[in-house]
Amino acid sequence: MSAPRLKKFRWKMYVTILIVILLLWTYTYGPDWIFPSLNPVPLPEPLHRGPGQPAPPGHQVSLVAGKGMKTILVSAYQEHRRGKREVRVIAVALRSETVEYHCVFSCEGQLRKSEGSRYVHSDHFDFAYGTADIMCPIPSDCESPSHITVTSKADPEEKPEVDLEVKNKKPENDSFHYNFTVCFSTMYEYKNVLQLVQNLETLQLLGVNRVVIYKTSSSPETQRILDYYTRKGLVEVIPWTLSKFLKVSRSWRPERSPGDTHYFGQIPALHDCLYRYMYQSRYVALHDNDELILPQKVFSWSELFPLLEKKYGPKQCFMFENNVFENDKFNKKVSDWQNVPGVDILTRLYHEPVHSGYGNFKIVVNPRVVFTLTVHGLLDPGISEACSFVDRNIARMYHTRLPKQPGVTRDKLTYDDRLLSYGARFTPTVTTVLRECGLLQKDRTPTTLTRPTGSDRVQAEKIRK
Ligand SMILES: *[C@@H]1O[C@H](CO)[C@@H](O)[C@H](O)[C@H]1NC(C)=O
Ligand SMILES: *[C@@H]1O[C@H](CO)[C@@H](O)[C@H](O)[C@H]1NC(C)=O
Repeated sequence: MSAPRLKKFRWKMYVTILIVILLLWTYTYGPDWIFPSLNPVPLPEPLHRGPGQPAPPGHQVSLVAGKGMKTILVSAYQEHRRGKREVRVIAVALRSETVEYHCVFSCEGQLRKSEGSRYVHSDHFDFAYGTADIMCPIPSDCESPSHITVTSKADPEEKPEVDLEVKNKKPENDSFHYNFTVCFSTMYEYKNVLQLVQNLETLQLLGVNRVVIYKTSSSPETQRILDYYTRKGLVEVIPWTLSKFLKVSRSWRPERSPGDTHYFGQIPALHDCLYRYMYQSRYVALHDNDELILPQKVFSWSELFPLLEKKYGPKQCFMFENNVFENDKFNKKVSDWQNVPGVDILTRLYHEPVHSGYGNFKIVVNPRVVFTLTVHGLLDPGISEACSFVDRNIARMYHTRLPKQPGVTRDKLTYDDRLLSYGARFTPTVTTVLRECGLLQKDRTPTTLTRPTGSDRVQAEKIRK
C-alpha cells in the first residue's frame, strides 16, 4: 500500500473501532430503550423436551391440551377429603363450552374409565376461560391409579395418551417435610433481581423452607438467581406454559388487557401450588414476590404462627393486611448493589394510607382445609368461615411496588422501618449470593462504568410488572 492509502486505511480503522466501542458501551451500560430488542426475554421453555435433553431444575408440570375440547389440563391430585375415591384434575376450561368428560386412568398397566364432572371457579373475572376442577371418580376395579387424562366423551379415543401423574396418593397428617411453603404465581418477563434476592433471604429468616415459582419468562440474571436457589433446595421452579395454549391477559379484567384468561393464569398456578404442597407443608402462603409478611412482636413465622393459632383459635387461614411501600426519598442502593438490576426494598420505608376492601390482604393457610382458592382469599370454604384477619400490630404485609395511590402527598405517608431489622441480617448474605451468581464485580469498577442512577424511580417503573 502506498503511504497516503495506508494513512486513509488506518484512519478508517480507527473510526470503525471507535464506533464499535461506542456501540458496545451503549449496549452494556446505556439505557434499555436504545437496544430493547437485543435484550430479549427468553421464550417459555418448550413443553416437551427431546430425548436426551436434561430436565430443567424442579419438577416438570406439563400442561396438556385436552383432546376434542377447549380444556387445558394442568395437573392431577387424589382427593381424600370428600368421603369417596376420586382424582381432582386441575384445568383451565372454556366456560361456554359444555362437554361431557371421560376420565381415563392408568391402573397397574390397565386403562379404566369413568365420567368426570366439571366445576368452574367463580373467579373468572369475565374472561372466556376459567380455572376448573374436573372431578374423576376412581373406578372400583382400579386399585391405585398412577396416571390420568381427561377426554371429551363426544370424541372418544381408543388409546389416549394418559400422561398426567396422579399426585397426593397418600394423605399426610402430622409429619410435614416443610413448615412454611410460599407460592409465587406466574413470573413473566421478570428482571427485578435485587428485590427477588432480598425477598428470598428474608423469607428464609422468617423460617420459610420452600418457595415455589411458576415461571413463564425472565431475564438471564433472574435465571441465574433461580438456579442458585434451586441448587440450595429453597426454590422449586415450575415451568408455566399456559401462554402456549391461550392468550393470557396481563391484567385482571378483559377490558384492561384482552385475552382468554385472567392475569397470566395466576389462579390455576396458585391452585396447583396448594394441592402440590398440601401434604408436604404445614402451612402454605399465597403472596407475590414483591410482598413480605413481617411479624411485629416476634422475628420469625416459626414464632408467629403458634401465637396466631392460640389467639385466633381453630381457624386455619390467616389474612394479613397489605401495606404499599413506595418512596423515592432515600433511593440510594447499598453501594455494593449499585449495578444490580432491581429495586432495593430497604430504601422504601414509607407506606401509603391503608384502605380496607377487596384485595387488601393475602393469606397463609393450612392447605388441608382448603378446596378452592383465589388471589385474595378462598372460595371454598369461604373467607368468613375459614379465615381470621390478623391484627396489624401482630403482623402485616410489606408490599414494595409502584404507588397504588400516586396522588397521595408525602405528609399522608407513614414511616415504618420494620424491614431494616431484617435488612441488618440479610445484607451480607444478599451480597454473597449476588457475588456467587456473578452479578457483582469482585473488584469494584471505576465509577465511570456505573449505570446512570439519576432516577431510580424510572428504573423501578420499568421493572414493575
Ligand atoms: C390423621 O391423623 C388422625 C390421628 O391423628 C388419624 O385418625 C387419621 O386417620 C389421619 N388422617 C389421615 C387422612 O391420614
Ligand atoms: C418446623 O418447625 C419445628 C418446630 O418449630 C422445628 O422443630 C422443625 O425443625 C421445623 N422444620 C423445618 C424443616 O424447618
